[in-house]
Amino acid sequence: MPVRAAPTIMPGYLPRKYAMSRIDELMCKMTLPEKLGQLTMTAAGYAVTGPIIAGDSTEAIKTGAIGNLLNLIGPGPIHEMQRLAVEESRLGIPLLIGLDIIHGHRTLFPIPLGEAALFDRDAWTLTARASAVEAAADGLALTFAPMLDVSRDPRWGRTAEGPGEDPWLGAQIAAAKVRGFQGGGLACADSLAACAKHFCAYGPVTAGREYAAVDISERTLREIHLPAFAAAVKAGVATVMPAFTDLNGIPMTAHTALLRDTLRGEFGFDGVLISDYNAIGELIRHGVAADLAEAAALALKAGIDIDMMADAYRKGLPVALERGLVTMEQIDTAVRRVLALKERLDLFDDPYRRGSQPEDQETVGRRRLLARSIAARAAVLLKNDRDTLPLAKVRRLALIGPLADAPAEMRGPWWAAGVPEGQVSVLAGLSRELEGIEVLHAPGSAIVGDDCGHIAAAVELCDHVDAIVLCLGEGANMSGEAASRACPELPGPQRTLAEAVLDRAHGMGKRVTAILFSGRPLIVPWLAERADALLAAWFLGSETGPALADILAGRVSPSGRTPVTWPRALGQVPIFFGQRPSGRPADPKDHFTSKYLDVPNEPLYPFGHGLGYGRLVQSNLRVAPDSVTESGTIEVKVDVTNEGAHSAVETVFLFTRDKLASVARPLLELRGFAKVELRPGETGTVRLSLPAAELRFLGADLAPVFEPGEVEILVGPCADRSRLLVGSVRLLA
Ligand code: BGC
Repeated sequence: MPVRAAPTIMPGYLPRKYAMSRIDELMCKMTLPEKLGQLTMTAAGYAVTGPIIAGDSTEAIKTGAIGNLLNLIGPGPIHEMQRLAVEESRLGIPLLIGLDIIHGHRTLFPIPLGEAALFDRDAWTLTARASAVEAAADGLALTFAPMLDVSRDPRWGRTAEGPGEDPWLGAQIAAAKVRGFQGGGLACADSLAACAKHFCAYGPVTAGREYAAVDISERTLREIHLPAFAAAVKAGVATVMPAFTDLNGIPMTAHTALLRDTLRGEFGFDGVLISDYNAIGELIRHGVAADLAEAAALALKAGIDIDMMADAYRKGLPVALERGLVTMEQIDTAVRRVLALKERLDLFDDPYRRGSQPEDQETVGRRRLLARSIAARAAVLLKNDRDTLPLAKVRRLALIGPLADAPAEMRGPWWAAGVPEGQVSVLAGLSRELEGIEVLHAPGSAIVGDDCGHIAAAVELCDHVDAIVLCLGEGANMSGEAASRACPELPGPQRTLAEAVLDRAHGMGKRVTAILFSGRPLIVPWLAERADALLAAWFLGSETGPALADILAGRVSPSGRTPVTWPRALGQVPIFFGQRPSGRPADPKDHFTSKYLDVPNEPLYPFGHGLGYGRLVQSNLRVAPDSVTESGTIEVKVDVTNEGAHSAVETVFLFTRDKLASVARPLLELRGFAKVELRPGETGTVRLSLPAAELRFLGADLAPVFEPGEVEILVGPCADRSRLLVGSVRLLA
């Protein structure tokens, strides 16, 4: 037999299959404290986003006891921390550094609720991309966004951060945002790891009160609160953050069934789970863990990899190991996931690449232009009687209200690295960009409080002008986290101010436009009744003033559509278009029907509502084919004509209604939208395709079913059924 030469191994070369991966090698070398360091994320102190403020982390980074940071900005400080980890710690593992880049980093775009009003997937992606590029240039590698919690309760302050009331819309935004943040792949120097949060069903907190318990059905959970997260996972989201809240008695931070079985198992999420701020420690106050060791064990077993700010893993897991509550294998699994994310972000090979190239002025300028055009498109014109807007024949304008000259407030909640003076106020924008119009200004009152002393001067201003613009609403910190409001109306003396101005202006036949700043729909039926024009500006970000000038001057026809229903009374909450039918639908002639004695059922403004400067009419709905099987596609066409005198953008919404099914279906379900821009007199045809498989729903056993029968196809400008064109399609088995 010929003797085979033994395979020679060249020095430094190991056949690939025998080579140890970097992660395997590190896992062999790491001590328990170093492993727990990789599972720990500590706040660096630039932004305060929670109750515990950490001290100096430098020593802990050097010893490997802290492997991840949040709330740090700027290439200098970030690279210095990174240097400590890479060059001074024993194993040189780079840090993962994140920040809440929720609607921009230094350049701020409209708050997420305002961006939802764009109904434009490309725009959603574009702003996330622009924010990622800016944040990565600052040295960051992770953002805690997108926030995907559906909210149907305007009392909840975090309504501002999310996609609004509709689950399908939430899923569209989720995919678009993940694509935008993660760009061409996590390894790219201008990409950030995204974080889908807060998983899940954080929106329906009891009574709209922040951090309160959540109790909802399994159907509501699956139909309303999970789809956006499933979409984020499908889009490849790198990380997920569980909600602070408990769901039907089980805090999300310890929810093994949802985190491990649904998110990782059913949806296939293989990324990193990051706890919310101190949430693991709060398992003790939730009453499900006796001490930090138990809390840490619950979270780890549920699949949470990184402990943000509770120090529960570092302090609790060694004890939990001793008590046999967790295994080393469970810890190792989490460590491997964290290291794998750092590897995917290319942090090992090039820890300083993010933040190594300062941005040039042209890039910064282009981003501001984008912020201006997005802001102008996110504002929603709720009312525009007698063509009050755009301003015509106005030589002098009174700009009144506490939010007129308030650049810092224009940031809205979560401003990342946006400095207070980085925003152009309404006053500055209008003064600069309304040609031929002199702008006179009086604040009239503060945002909150009860001082009415400045109202008279503001009212007096009305005598000297041709038109009045009121800038009213909430301050930036009145929505967002920990900003629930039991009475989401105009705060402080603003109603008194507005009514005094309206009285005086209307007494002289002058028109009043009210611009509302808020992180939620405000309950202002009286203002909607009395103002001649009403514009929901949410918080539009850095270019607020110029964007509003574009709208007021008529350079941009408003095209935002509200992603939340506006209630007329707080007692209507929760109010949303996707309600299921009652067995006794409202009938004013029949006492025993589903209605209020004191207010109508109808909202102040329905979901999808928003006017432009044209007069857009939808007609001639065509649905083809007449019948379709589960694998088919329904093609919907509708003509849109601009009968007005201005160019305008129309949004066409596609809803369905399954009138007869084994489970009661909502009165309307959103399935699609499209936009068309039309010049005066122009007609366009909008086409929407709906795969029939999307008409599956969760049957009585919560498994998806496709049931034969007729389904209504409803198309129109908003979720007001009386304004929808109705067609139908037959589903075949
Ligand atoms: C918020 C998260 C945020 C985290 C870090 C928490 O208080 O709930 O949304 O990502 O802080 O700032």
